This record gives sequence, structure tokens and C-alpha cells, in this order.
Amino acid sequence: PIVPVILSGGSGTRLWPMSRPELPKQFLSLTSTQTMLQLTAARARGRGFAAPIIVANAAHAEEVEGQLASIGLTPQALVLEPTGRNTAPAIALAALAASHPEDALLVMPSDHVIADVPAFHAAIDAALPLVNDGWLVTFGIEPDAPEIGYGWIQTGDEIVPGVHRVARFVEKPPLDRAEAMLAAGGHSWNGGIFLFRADMYLGALASYAPEILHAAQQAMAAATRDGTRVTPQAEAFAASPSDSIDYAVMEKAERVAVVPVSMGWSDVGSWDALHAISERDEDENTQGGEVIMLDSRNCLIRSDRVRIAVVGVSDLVVVASGDDVLIVPRGRSQEVKKLLDAMKR
Ligand code: GDD
Ligand code: MG
Repeated sequence: PIVPVILSGGSGTRLWPMSRPELPKQFLSLTSTQTMLQLTAARARGRGFAAPIIVANAAHAEEVEGQLASIGLTPQALVLEPTGRNTAPAIALAALAASHPEDALLVMPSDHVIADVPAFHAAIDAALPLVNDGWLVTFGIEPDAPEIGYGWIQTGDEIVPGVHRVARFVEKPPLDRAEAMLAAGGHSWNGGIFLFRADMYLGALASYAPEILHAAQQAMAAATRDGTRVTPQAEAFAASPSDSIDYAVMEKAERVAVVPVSMGWSDVGSWDALHAISERDEDENTQGGEVIMLDSRNCLIRSDRVRIAVVGVSDLVVVASGDDVLIVPRGRSQEVKKLLDAMKR
């Protein structure tokens, strides 16, 4: 079976003020009545998928269990990280929690949108023979901008239909390099979704990041268990270096393949990105909560409590949550990060 592994450790600061440390993006309903976590779990259900392994911050244990229970899903394991050590160690915990070393793990961020789920499933099917053969597989998104926040993949030769060798993996390139790769063609963005056997991932860690493997093994050997909850031993896990799977493994490993797939993928990395993928009215507005709009265009306006009323505005993001209100012109919502820094000072 394929075991879905859902990573729920991000703090989702870019969608402030709705996303906050207590309730980050993956737990919010942004694109449908279901939350991002629920949508992620639902797209890897049935069809020969096993029950998922969730890796989450210990502080969110009840939120995760509640959201999954409300769609009738019980994970095979809920691994609760005492501290976040980024994705390479988090996935190591999941690989060690898997029931069989040869289980194929479908590693998915908990906070992405995939509009075309059948296309996603077809890409998984295309990759499976190579995965069983020991390859590490990632899914490639056709780039349309020189993004510096993504991993880039140079596509190599086709190995089996639809699956290519990775010629080069460049995590978070500088702008000039991203521009050159976009202009050259033959590149995709790394979608942050991976498929590999648990034992192959652990083997790659042994070669390229042995300290991460060692810490994860120690932490799991001394883990405490309570029903489906698994809590790795805190000091042992804290001893792990903090690194992403992209830097620790994907850039270095041999036998890495990519499945280019067009599936309506978005990592919903900003309010502008959410506007772009949301259903909009004839004036290109999208709204949520108690909102009244007159003679306004191209806006995203959302509230979870207070009423927002606007007239005669355009190209604006207005988001009210709790006691906070964000107002930013469309196209500048990435600068929320600067606001958060300024508020900390
Ligand atoms: N459990 C757990 N623990 N999950 C984590 C942790 C952690 O310590 N850190 C991050 N995650 C989860 C996040 O919640 C998110 O769902 C996913 O792992 C990816 O982490 P990000 O922090 O969002 O990664 P990124 O956006 O910088 O880069 C990755 O995703 C890009 C696509 O969105 C890379 O894989 C890039 O190559 C890729 O292009
Ligand atoms: Mg991300």
C-alpha cells in the first residue's frame, strides 16, 4: 500500500492575521468548507492508500485529531514533534513509524492546493514502478515565474513513460539563476510532494545526513505511545540538525526522478495567491465572512468575526481576524512578513 505522510509543522506566517502560531494555515478553511489538512487527507484516501501518518507539532495534537475525526478518518500514527527540526527529520520519524520498511511513503505538505486530483493520482501511478525499484520521486510543477522560494528541477532523460531522471536539483536559487532556468525551459518547480520507500529514504539519510538519522532513531526507540499518538523522546530529537529534505537529501541523492504534472497546484503562499485560485465574482472579487462590497473590484476581503464594509475600492486585500486587521494593496501581500517583523520589534 501507499502510506500518506502528512507534514503539519509549518507556522504559515504569510497568511497572517488568519494564520497564527496557535492555528496555522493548514487548519484553516481557505478554499472550501474543508480545511487544508482535511483536503490533503481526502486526496490520498481509498484507491489502495493506507491510513495516513501525520507528523505535527505536539501543541496541535487535538486540532489534528478533531479535524480528521470530523471527516471520519483515523490516522495509523500521529507523530508529535516536541520541537520542530524541519522536514528531513520529520520525514525520518514517519519512515521509522511505518509498519514495513518497504512501504511507499507519499509525503505531502498539509497546506497546499491540488485542483486536479485525478491528474495527481495518475502521476503517482506513473511513478510507482520506479519507487518500488528504490528511486526517490518528486513531482514537478511547470514554472511561470522566477520563484526564489521554491526548489527547481532540471528535467533529464525519460526513464519510463512520464517519469524523468532529475538532472539537477537546485533548492531556492538566487534570482538571476531562477530567471536563467525559466528562460532556458526544461525545468520544473519542486512541488514539495515526494514518493519513496521508507527504507530508501532512511538509506539516503544514512549516506548524506547520518546525524539526522541517528537522532530520529534514538528518539523513536525511546518514544512514548498512547493509542495512535507517538511522541519521540524530546532530548534525542532536539539533538537532530535542523534541515529540509531538499537540502539534506534531494540535492545530493542518486536515483532521483521527477514526474512533471499539471494538476492545479498552489502552495497558497500569500493572500494574492489565494485570490488567484479562489472563485471570484464578475468584478474579480473574492470574499469570506460578513462582508459588504459596493462598486469594488479585484479585492480579497475576509473576516472571521467583525463586519467589513467597503465601497469604491479596488486592488485591495483586507483581512480581519480576532483583534487584527490587515490592509495591503494587491500584489504586495508577500510583505506581510515585514509587518510581522516590525510587530516583534
Ligand atoms: N511536521 C513538520 N515538522 N512539518 C514541517 C516542518 C517540521 O519541522 N517544517 C516544515 N513542515 C511542513 C510545512 O508545514 C509544509 O507543509 C511543508 O512541510 C514544507 O515546508 P515549508 O517550510 O513550507 O517548505 P518551503 O515552502 O520552504 O519549501 C518546500 O516546498 C516548496 C513548494 O511549496 C521545498 O520542498 C521546495 O523545494 C518546494 O518548492
Ligand atoms: Mg512552503
